[in-house]
Amino acid sequence: MQATVVPLASPRRDVARYEADLIEVTRRVIASGSYIGGPELDALEKGLARSIGTEAVTGVGSGTDALIFAMQAAGVSRGDEVIVPSHTAGPSVAAINALPATPVFVDVEFDTACIDVNCVAAAIGRRTKAILAVHLYGHPARIDELVRLAADRGVSVIEDCAQAQGARLMDRPVGSFGRFGCFSFYPTKNLGAIGDAGAVAGSAAGVSLVRQLRTYGWREPQFAEIPGGRCSRLDELQAGFLNVRLKGLDEDVRARREIARAYNERLAGLPIALPVEHKGAYHAYHLFVIKSDRRDALKEHLAKSGVMTSIHYPFPAHRQPGLAAGSRTEGTLDVTDRLQQQILSLPIFATMSRGEVDRVAEAVRGFFGD
Ligand SMILES: Cc1ncc(COP(=O)(O)O)c(C=O)c1O
Repeated sequence: MQATVVPLASPRRDVARYEADLIEVTRRVIASGSYIGGPELDALEKGLARSIGTEAVTGVGSGTDALIFAMQAAGVSRGDEVIVPSHTAGPSVAAINALPATPVFVDVEFDTACIDVNCVAAAIGRRTKAILAVHLYGHPARIDELVRLAADRGVSVIEDCAQAQGARLMDRPVGSFGRFGCFSFYPTKNLGAIGDAGAVAGSAAGVSLVRQLRTYGWREPQFAEIPGGRCSRLDELQAGFLNVRLKGLDEDVRARREIARAYNERLAGLPIALPVEHKGAYHAYHLFVIKSDRRDALKEHLAKSGVMTSIHYPFPAHRQPGLAAGSRTEGTLDVTDRLQQQILSLPIFATMSRGEVDRVAEAVRGFFGD
């Protein structure tokens, strides 16, 4: 075992680059006396709208809340069905259950692990109200095709961009295709806060409705126009931190892509499947996920070599009772089950050093006797 471990992600190192700026933000916010709904949030919402390319953005308390409010604003409610991949982070599905609506699980593409458009087409029925397109690992789903398909059927597309901040398709940022784009600023994400936070992007009217839903249903202070039993806001401190990090987002995504390029070069020729990038896609590499028939042994070997890895995700949603109760599945989930046996996430984060990439690559090569 080597003395130092290569972490899977390092929010600490990513944030450390900005420590002086973040302390300055903290002083500014403390001095302002405005801790909720002030100039920092205003600047962040405008900056995000510019970066995502939507009319408006509103901050909320987390990525999960972003999904819940976006689906509510799209009119999804009890009895409605929402088509979602089973191969996703649990919160994508938990948000549907929270409405409460019915998740309809469909399969994903083997190469990108994103939702399979043909499976979605087969799953759309009378009760379908929305499609939750997850841009998993940072690769854009076939969102242009999904939006076309949904428009023909009178269905809304909600984008789960939690893992794909900075990703694009045909040069257009994810989050700008569907009715709403939902983002998470969980610390390990491409744009990470120092705590929980999220955002919803969309049209001015749509985002204004989300703003009401996230604050007691208020149209203006103390006047509840619509039922809204929730309060989920993005505070001034987190907004200030995120303003600092938003300036470096494009560069951070470029750094992730450079790490991915280096991995692809050093791991070429091994009996593993490397991540792909479809034509026209700009992968944001939130995660670098390889596939191997010998995944568990490889994982163990890497752990012994001081390389942290993870499995995103070890349990598909349709196999988790807390997510699958009340759901239904359309077609088979064979690809989902196959992926779950083979996937392994290698370390990747903006401040990962070239030496660390080399160490990971050498350890992987070593496992295959290379
Ligand atoms: C794909 C996906 N959707 C939703 C979420 C939920 O975001 P949060 O943890 O900010 O609630 C996450 C993050 O964990 C995610 O990876």
